[in-house]
Amino acid sequence: MKLLIDDANLADIKRLYDLYPIDGVTTNPSILAKTGSDPAAVLREIRAFIGPDALLFAQALALTAEGMVADAHRILEICGKSTIVKIPSIPEGFKAIRMLRAEGIATCGTVVYTPMQAFLAAKAGASYVAPYVNRIDNMGYDGVKVVKEIQDILTNNHMDCMVLAASFKNSQQVLELCAYGVGSATAAPAVIDALVKNPAIDAAVQDFVHDFEKATGKAAMTEF
Ligand code: G3P
Repeated sequence: MKLLIDDANLADIKRLYDLYPIDGVTTNPSILAKTGSDPAAVLREIRAFIGPDALLFAQALALTAEGMVADAHRILEICGKSTIVKIPSIPEGFKAIRMLRAEGIATCGTVVYTPMQAFLAAKAGASYVAPYVNRIDNMGYDGVKVVKEIQDILTNNHMDCMVLAASFKNSQQVLELCAYGVGSATAAPAVIDALVKNPAIDAAVQDFVHDFEKATGKAAMTEF
């Protein structure tokens, strides 16, 4: 499973890239707005840091297919041709995905709350579909179950489209989808940190250092 950062804060992105095996960065208009900076400048900075070939997702804002296509062209001008354009999985979005596919521009059908949205976005030619796990949970449904169903639909219909599971609020949601083998997941920095946050692990690591230091008087192998 590919693991991406769902955030546009460059300091957080740099910290997580330094520590974890990260495959890319996803953004949406709300995430870019949260930075308080010029969105184009933010996207350029992220692209410059992660490199020209790393996965970067940015979302079209228009509500018509023609507007979404125009937004896609601008997004590619700003952050490079390898950028994947997120298109809302609504009727105008399916049309835009088909138009962009004809131009060879990669898209992600986003704002996916139902399996049929994902199916239609994939059928229209999206390279990724992004179901919102936690938001589905908050509607009284089972977000993880919906994502598994979407993964099954893509697999059983032999569709050349990958799940990009999004909107996580806890590590259990990520774990379940990782075990199921979904193609990719994007999560906020706090959720990525929480994947391995465990006092028992920290205590075990500290115990090794204390035991060694007590016996040898030294705290590092480099001192020998
Ligand atoms: O980028 C889309 C998705 O990740 C939104 O997440 O946390 O706003 O529900 P959230």
